[in-house]
Amino acid sequence: MTNIIFKALNITRFYKEKNDIFHAVSGISFELHAGEVISFVGPNGAGKTTLIKSISNYLIPNLGQIEVEGIDLTKKPRQARKQMGIVFGGDRGFYNNATARDNLEFFARILGVKERHIKSNVQHALETVNLANVADKKAGSYSKGMLQRLHIARGLVNHPKILMLDEPTAGLDIESVISIRKLVKKLADDGCGIILTSHDMTDIETLADRIFLIGGGKIYYEGSIAGVKAFAHVDETASLTDAYLAVANKLKRK
Ligand SMILES: Nc1ncnc2c1ncn2[C@@H]1O[C@H](COP(=O)(O)OP(=O)(O)OP(=O)(O)O)[C@@H](O)[C@H]1O
Ligand SMILES: [Mg+2]
Repeated sequence: MTNIIFKALNITRFYKEKNDIFHAVSGISFELHAGEVISFVGPNGAGKTTLIKSISNYLIPNLGQIEVEGIDLTKKPRQARKQMGIVFGGDRGFYNNATARDNLEFFARILGVKERHIKSNVQHALETVNLANVADKKAGSYSKGMLQRLHIARGLVNHPKILMLDEPTAGLDIESVISIRKLVKKLADDGCGIILTSHDMTDIETLADRIFLIGGGKIYYEGSIAGVKAFAHVDETASLTDAYLAVANKLKRK
């Protein structure tokens, strides 16, 4: 894997509090290759969502540089954003009275997908997440699992080279979780670079090529899953959960 498609350098995002500055994300750097899945793992409040927002133009980092396929995100946000799909999930994000298909067409247009590609891109995204048969139902009628898949479809409408998924399997039934894992794996196999956050260690074990342990806005470990076990001083046969628990205290904000 040599084809670097995304670079983040020294990403820092802080919030001003009364007399203090609170660093949600502090000096994080990493690279992502085509077809690679990297995962940020850490406790609640570690800075995962803030990091994803800061590298995807949802938030402007206070410091740092982001290169998307060689394009500087801060200098050419629109052009850079076209290469990316971002999935935050949750109950919001769609027009409830519009159909899933109309929602996706709307977001594809906003992302600058060419008019002649919109219908086919949307249909393809719907098929990819298995929603084609219910695409003409209102988004407001969707169950949580369907909505989550619709969020992923939204992330795919521009055929991104980089897909960022913030807790894509949270709160879903096991069948939906497994179908999302398979989908992420397939997208990566097809060459998409994936940035994933999850609290589900099985997601991480089945999907991640490299993991980053993040705590208090900083990276504590970067490497393979086998490497985390060595880092955490647990046995090779220990699970990723065991390894994580062995270092969890270090990752908490003091
Ligand atoms: N707009 C904001 N103003 C002030 N503090 C913020 C803001 N957004 C996030 N934070 C703080 O930044 C820290 C990191 O939050 P973030 O949501 O990135 O964590 P996370 O790792 O995604 O957590 P979780 O696993 O719960 O999703 C938290 O302490 C949070 O309270
Ligand atoms: Mg989060």
